[in-house]
Amino acid sequence: MLLPFLLLTSTLLARTSQTENGTFALPLGRGPFRTSLQHAELVDNSRLDPWNASHVRRLMISRFDPVPPANCTSIEVPYLTPRVAEEEDEILGGYDYPTGLWEKARLQVCNMTYMECSMAKRDAPIAMFSAGLNTTRLFSQSLVQEIASHGLTVVLVDHPYDTDIVEFPNGDVIFGNHVKKPENGNSSSVEFALEVRAQDISFVMDTLGISSDDKVVMFGHSFGGAATATVMLHDERIRAGVNIDGMMFGPVLNTSLGSQSDPQAFLLWGSQGHNTTEDATWGDFWETLKGSSYVDWAKEFTIVNSTHGSAWDLNMLVDVTGIRGNLSELALSGVGPIPAAPIWNILGRYIPAFFRFALGLEPEDEILQGPSDEFPDVLILRQ
Ligand SMILES: *[C@@H]1O[C@H](CO)[C@@H](O)[C@H](O)[C@H]1NC(C)=O
Ligand SMILES: *[C@@H]1O[C@H](CO)[C@@H](O)[C@H](O)[C@H]1NC(C)=O
Ligand SMILES: *[C@@H]1O[C@H](CO)[C@@H](O)[C@H](O)[C@H]1NC(C)=O
Ligand SMILES: *[C@@H]1O[C@H](CO)[C@@H](O)[C@H](O)[C@H]1NC(C)=O
Ligand SMILES: *[C@@H]1O[C@H](CO)[C@@H](O)[C@H](O)[C@H]1NC(C)=O
Ligand SMILES: *[C@@H]1O[C@H](CO)[C@@H](O)[C@H](O)[C@H]1NC(C)=O
Ligand SMILES: *[C@@H]1O[C@H](CO)[C@@H](O)[C@H](O)[C@H]1NC(C)=O
Ligand SMILES: *[C@@H]1O[C@H](CO)[C@@H](O)[C@H](O)[C@H]1NC(C)=O
Ligand SMILES: *[C@@H]1O[C@H](CO)[C@@H](O)[C@H](O)[C@H]1NC(C)=O
Ligand SMILES: *[C@@H]1O[C@H](CO)[C@@H](O)[C@H](O)[C@H]1NC(C)=O
Repeated sequence: MLLPFLLLTSTLLARTSQTENGTFALPLGRGPFRTSLQHAELVDNSRLDPWNASHVRRLMISRFDPVPPANCTSIEVPYLTPRVAEEEDEILGGYDYPTGLWEKARLQVCNMTYMECSMAKRDAPIAMFSAGLNTTRLFSQSLVQEIASHGLTVVLVDHPYDTDIVEFPNGDVIFGNHVKKPENGNSSSVEFALEVRAQDISFVMDTLGISSDDKVVMFGHSFGGAATATVMLHDERIRAGVNIDGMMFGPVLNTSLGSQSDPQAFLLWGSQGHNTTEDATWGDFWETLKGSSYVDWAKEFTIVNSTHGSAWDLNMLVDVTGIRGNLSELALSGVGPIPAAPIWNILGRYIPAFFRFALGLEPEDEILQGPSDEFPDVLILRQ
């Protein structure tokens, strides 16, 4: 995972929600819907794996669907499998985090009796999601559950050999770390990885039955935000995208999104000190967005004092397990000074509002148009 650069301290302490059996229940989303969760392996028989030609491309996805509360029988399911939890303990242990906690986290989801367990499209608008470099999709389930509770189906996609660990239903594991960070201006490895992510996402959309006439949306954190723009460049089924704090690479820096028949919209969501002025890749991308006749909406938002780690689930996990107040400076730098609840509250309002607007389901919400009394910490930097 790309750990952030800011070291800030916090005096905020969270109340834990530990249950008698020693597990920690992550909160429900704030939206009007409950959610169901499915994990599935998808195999792309048309492609050899770009990092390992001895097998075809195999992916793991997780899918949250909104469920009316009246149709939801609540159950708790493990947040991580034991194998993934063990690997994340090892990685995060290197950043001073305690071990043995994440495996006790539980998601509150609906029992699947209401749903048919198929991967087919349903009624809700669909949002694709891609996570950070070398970061499991599972570390975004809580944020995504928040988004899905506002009435969206959200599909999280792992990218084997890029994602730190991908565990398949038969027990196979593929480790990540195959993407090299840019060195001396050479970003060929990350650019290659972004093209692979774009192929992965398009394949998952095909599998879900999304036709060339359908419109969906996409968002991602960190490298997943960069992937969002790359997918949009290649696949016009994506109507709108959100990059949550990810540096950008490759053709999107100077190639226009959108076309006359299929305009696209983009929201850059940065953090304190990471914006279109500070990050040249964001500056270039912004100029390209503004120069395109077929990008019909582009804005830049930020949250005061937020950091790169504000928007991944580790921020929620340290609150739910009650360890925020005990974190070292190094560990705290991985989640930032703002607890998860206000971040989830903000992103749960703004991202679905943007997606509904871009998909033509709603007019542009006031919160997207200007400063909001309800969310004083959200700033619109450019529009
Ligand atoms: C743990 O306990 C809580 C209530 O104390 C209960 O809701 C939950 O289902 C239990 N989880 C497991 C996995 O037993
Ligand atoms: C490539 O995949 C094969 C299984 O098909 C596995 O045995 C091998 O370890 C993989 N290579 C790498 C570099 O991961
Ligand atoms: C969902 O709940 C409503 C209200 O209880 C009920 O009328 C409907 O049949 C339920 N739908 C399904 C698919 O169970
Ligand atoms: C969940 O659904 C299954 C059937 O699909 C049923 O056997 C199980 O008892 C249900 N669990 C709860 C907590 O309702
Ligand atoms: C990336 O993931 C691998 C596991 O695939 C892990 O060993 C390594 O520590 C991770 N790198 C970082 C910087 O987190
Ligand atoms: C750029 O880096 C890749 C590995 O990431 C390497 O294969 C390639 O040769 C490098 N290109 C140049 C021009 O150094
Ligand atoms: C974008 O930049 C690359 C690298 O500088 C260059 O090769 C390419 O021609 C540029 N494309 C456009 C459309 O300007
Ligand atoms: C971008 O970040 C820098 C560094 O924190 C800051 O000085 C600048 O005011 C920010 N730009 C905007 C438009 O807020
Ligand atoms: C941002 O952080 C600074 C320094 O810790 C603090 O003084 C300020 O109150 C914070 N502002 C908000 C809106 O959180
Ligand atoms: C936090 O640290 C204090 C002092 O070392 C300790 O008593 C407490 O148990 C710790 N709490 C957690 C949740 O680890």
